[in-house]
Amino acid sequence: MKVLFVSPEVSPFARTGGLGEVVGSLPIALNQVGVETKILCPLHGCCKTFPYKTLDGDIVFRYGNTKIKSQVGVLDQKHSPVSVYFLINEKLFGRTGIYADEKGDYSDNCLRSFVLSHAATQIEKITRWKPDILHAHDWMAAATSAYLNAKQAKKKSPKVQGSVLTIHNLEHQGVFNQSEFHKSRLPNTYWGIDGFEHHGTLNLLKGGIQHADKISTVSPTYAQEIRTKAHGQNLEESLKFRGADLLGILNGIDQESWNPINDQLIPSNFGPHKPLPGKQLCKEDLIKEFKLANIKEPLIGVVSRLHHQKGLDLLLSILPDMLAEGRGSFIILGSGDKVLEKEFSKLADSFPERIGLRIGFDDALARRIFAGTDFFLMPSRFEPCGLAQQYAMRYGSIPVARNTGGLSDTIIARTDEKSKSTGYLFKSAEPKLLLDSIKLAIRDWDDESFYLNMQKRAMNVPSSWDVAAEKYKTLYNWVLRDS
Ligand code: GLC
Repeated sequence: MKVLFVSPEVSPFARTGGLGEVVGSLPIALNQVGVETKILCPLHGCCKTFPYKTLDGDIVFRYGNTKIKSQVGVLDQKHSPVSVYFLINEKLFGRTGIYADEKGDYSDNCLRSFVLSHAATQIEKITRWKPDILHAHDWMAAATSAYLNAKQAKKKSPKVQGSVLTIHNLEHQGVFNQSEFHKSRLPNTYWGIDGFEHHGTLNLLKGGIQHADKISTVSPTYAQEIRTKAHGQNLEESLKFRGADLLGILNGIDQESWNPINDQLIPSNFGPHKPLPGKQLCKEDLIKEFKLANIKEPLIGVVSRLHHQKGLDLLLSILPDMLAEGRGSFIILGSGDKVLEKEFSKLADSFPERIGLRIGFDDALARRIFAGTDFFLMPSRFEPCGLAQQYAMRYGSIPVARNTGGLSDTIIARTDEKSKSTGYLFKSAEPKLLLDSIKLAIRDWDDESFYLNMQKRAMNVPSSWDVAAEKYKTLYNWVLRDS
């Protein structure tokens, strides 16, 4: 079985977050279970430093009356365990950002998305490798299934290729003017309530949901939540309509790269059988690095985008009280919302001995935080899967998180099953509930043997990609069986 991943991001070449990481690691596990998987990603500015070979031939996309030509490059095999095809179009993709620059989203994002999605259905003419399944990720690749359906309808022969759409975050849908749709060269019948139209606008993710053979999202709980008004981001009706073809497959993590036993980027290594003294040394190092005062108190970490989804405003509203009570110190790494960045900076200035703050994105520091903290906060309003809590657990930092999406699926709550628990889950996005959870966590930390056992359980939670890869394989088989 041959599968082509179609994605705007693939780690380590281009990534802004979890999507890139998943697309960079799941194909490796799929190849191991016998699914030949390759990746198609635009050649963004940041990918250009990697050596690739341009193949002969053009992919031509007609956009209104304009002809847009792109090429396909193959990444040098030495740089990746899986084959990566780059879609080359300097004018559309050769930019510094993936979706946006400092001025905001690129104004031609809709066209860029069409060019990528359409190319996925044509690539075999250039590569001489024809995928059985086109597996698109998120809104930017979502129109792939529609271009595929249009291509196969034209041929009038039995369907030979199938499609899957994976939703990594329903919040980002790719919403544009209706006029863009008419330039897309998709059949007019694909406009409308059962296609790309959403209340008069063009909604690329919705079109993908309507057209894909199967739809997946990145955790079982999120797959249920998005059918409801509370989490459906206004697409709940489409998702309910496609309910029989929608399922949740929990993301794994790259266990080789994220392994405290041999991670070269943390000051001291340790494993689940004996977290101490390695973990303590990592904590001391972090406290020194951020010039915090009290080593004998629990250290609580945050590594996150500062964005409404992540619920860190809840933390902001309880931090002054928590600090006044005198327990716990915090290390926060994140960037995003300028207002939140400013508020956290102000607090860090007022409590320099208790709050260590770094505004930015820093992979090595993230690892030191997972390794050096006792607890890890993730108060997300919604969380399709969440990778950080999985990294934190593996590095022995116990998560304190909202009971939602993938957080519910990866953490066994202290309040549900104390003897099996691997973290703390609070019910709704209210500051008081977050505060209560942190307080309970700190009380538990005082009970050394309970805390140590919980830490070992968390570090032993299975999180490899193998399980997910088998599930995707089954999903692909359903697609092929049904076509
Ligand atoms: C998005 C989601 C996150 C998920 C990741 C990978 O970033 O917000 O929850 O873990 O995609 O699927």
